[in-house]
Amino acid sequence: MRLLIIILLGFALGGCSAGSGKGLDVSGRPLSEGGDLPLAATLASIQANVFNPSCIVCHSGASAPLGLRLDAASSYTALVGVSSSQNGSFKLVAPANPDASYLIKKLEGTAAEGEQMPLGGPPVPQATIDFVRQWITDGAAPDSGGPASQPPVVVSLTPVPASASTDFPSQIAAGFDQDVDASTINDLTFTLHRSGGDAQFDNGNDVVITPAAVALSPMNARLAVMDLTGVAAVEDRYRITLSGAGTNVILSVSGLTLDGEFAGSFPSGDGTQGGDFVAEFDVQGLQASLDSIQANVFTPTCAFSGCHSGPAGPNLPAGMDLSSADASFASLVDVASIQVPVTMRVATGIADDSYLIRKLEGTAAAGSRMPLGGPFLDQVTIDVIRAWIDSGAAR
Ligand code: HEC
Repeated sequence: MRLLIIILLGFALGGCSAGSGKGLDVSGRPLSEGGDLPLAATLASIQANVFNPSCIVCHSGASAPLGLRLDAASSYTALVGVSSSQNGSFKLVAPANPDASYLIKKLEGTAAEGEQMPLGGPPVPQATIDFVRQWITDGAAPDSGGPASQPPVVVSLTPVPASASTDFPSQIAAGFDQDVDASTINDLTFTLHRSGGDAQFDNGNDVVITPAAVALSPMNARLAVMDLTGVAAVEDRYRITLSGAGTNVILSVSGLTLDGEFAGSFPSGDGTQGGDFVAEFDVQGLQASLDSIQANVFTPTCAFSGCHSGPAGPNLPAGMDLSSADASFASLVDVASIQVPVTMRVATGIADDSYLIRKLEGTAAAGSRMPLGGPFLDQVTIDVIRAWIDSGAAR
């Protein structure tokens, strides 16, 4: 439910930035999109007229209900010949047999389990469902497969645009409505920045994120994946850009440029080639990185004047300088404790052997538990500091 609220919030924000909403349909999509495909018994038409406007607000991304993704990149493989997770005796789409297809039961409200789809929305008109029935009767074929004549659009993104999470994502995945040219998915066309802590972009302090890899998925020519393995988790606002303008752009296999403009709901685009896709998400709360620990723990609870405020030197407490991330790194990582010199304050990779952790958990052999006089850090917070140390205590 929280996710749904975030999605709806994203829609509301998107609506604002799009101005009065003129030229947008009820789900915020440009009127020129989707509507230009007349209702027909083809998957492309059902995608444009049913799944995109009524279903993918929920049924897309990592938290799609029952794992059922109905975005254009996923709907065929997610439906045809696949068993329902709600009632395993039915296929979601049983080719040639609409009456035995659980998708139809969910649309018509005759399924024994759960609610009629779209959940909470007005039912799809029977005349429209009849096209879905006809498509199934005809064998539930995938799209004709010839080169698309429309520019590619973005139909899904994880993390969800305008969402907020306590966990830093391990990857970013962008889905397109058609196969894209793998050579055009790279670190020039698919980029990630963070705001530098002020939640504002283009004001001089943005930080470019260097991902482990950016590539088209080898399993799915409609899915671009940015691998964030090894990227320092920092609490901040992040901005994803998929390039449809400038020198380096994302192209479909038929050579058309990404139609990227994004107003908060999928698919992207204003109906003509070109335009960047830009979406933001927030990572909130303490992360296992020194910048985050500095901002959330050291600065507010350790670096008071007269405590660990510097300058660095042999005199405690000021000499163990925790007043900035650089100072903390220099004072802590692989630096011997003054109280117990055989122990490193932070022993890279080994939280259990780090004097800092013993001081925070109250198990040090000398002196007092920190922060002196309390209140002490909760174990959840200490565990994040442990995770930072165990993963290598990187600056
Ligand atoms: C507001 C969110 C929401 C929307 C919009 C929505 N669904 Fe669902 N869908 C759910 C949830 C939650 C479930 C599981 C609970 C239930 O069935 O009531 C579900 C279950 C399903 C299932 C059962 C899947 C299985 O494996 O058994 C199908 C099929 C389905 N939805 C199709 C659709 C279609 C088609 C649309 C658009 C016409 C749609 N849904 C719109 C939230 C949504």
